[in-house]
Amino acid sequence: MKSVVEIADPAIHVRDDLRRVEAKLTTLLDSNEALISEIAHYLVDSAGKRLRPLFILLVYRACGGSDAQVEDAIDAAIALELIHSATLLHDDIIDGGELRRGKPSAFARYGTAAALVAGDFLFCRAFELCGRFDERLVQIAARACIQLTEGEVMESRMRHQTGANFEDYLTIITRKTASLFAAGGRIAADLAGGSQATIAAMENLGCAFGRAFQMIDDVLDVVGPEAKIGKPVGSDLRAGVLSLPAVIAMEESLELRNYFGNGKVVDEAGFAKMIALMARPAALQRARDRATDQIAIARALLGELASSRFRDSLAVLIEDQTARDS
Ligand code: FPP
Ligand code: MG
Repeated sequence: MKSVVEIADPAIHVRDDLRRVEAKLTTLLDSNEALISEIAHYLVDSAGKRLRPLFILLVYRACGGSDAQVEDAIDAAIALELIHSATLLHDDIIDGGELRRGKPSAFARYGTAAALVAGDFLFCRAFELCGRFDERLVQIAARACIQLTEGEVMESRMRHQTGANFEDYLTIITRKTASLFAAGGRIAADLAGGSQATIAAMENLGCAFGRAFQMIDDVLDVVGPEAKIGKPVGSDLRAGVLSLPAVIAMEESLELRNYFGNGKVVDEAGFAKMIALMARPAALQRARDRATDQIAIARALLGELASSRFRDSLAVLIEDQTARDS
């Protein structure tokens, strides 16, 4: 396999496919109701990473997907980005997240009801697009959505639970984040005409990649800075969310366990002290090591694919996750 450092930009070989994703995605944000279009554009146009479309298109191409069928992969990529966007609108309402991507979240700007319905709109658009696919593929997407809802509810249930452990954490992030990447990997490999073994490998790869992505996201929530992450540092702790740095630092700090269990932030100096506990180099290293474990799983699964420039790009995308927080 070509060294990953030889390819700087993992999107380079699917640039045209991604342009087509962007062009079609934007037309799907239009609605008969101007407010819906405005909210949809407000979120979807705002510097999202398009990580799910990039992942799906790379898997599709790396599994031998042809130009003749690429429209299907493009639609699947758009559908997953629409689902992801819908969940962000709803997630900010649930988390009370007032900043997203460095600007007021849709719910902070347009209110709960409007953001909620705009999320429903995007979600329905996704399934409008998916509807023409085989029942098998629609089911994969629907099951991922079911897991997203279960992950979100489990996350809420585990808020402030000091007895929660790494297994609980892994279940939450597998459902709330990794499930959509796993579905993307499976659908993309299926559309490319991959074997059952390849389809299963790409689902597992998506799962490991999604877990690593969420783990690094959790680390970023603690290390920031706000200008980089587009939301206040420590949002997870403030909401009592069981993030990876919290799970790890709570194992060693009774003070953090008490704080996490207590609920509301009343004292900003105490809050800053807890963030500092989670940001201790040894604790962060343990968190990064857990992400590295998932990266290693994803990397090993790449070995199931024939050598190609798309597989190399996928390798870059996977390895890039560990560099996001440095
Ligand atoms: C963001 O996580 C949230 C998710 C990845 C999942 C949200 C799922 C739902 C709201 C339920 C399902 C909804 C639909 C429409 C199927 P985060 O809070 O860790 O990330 P953040 O820091 O970016 O807010
Ligand atoms: Mg959130």
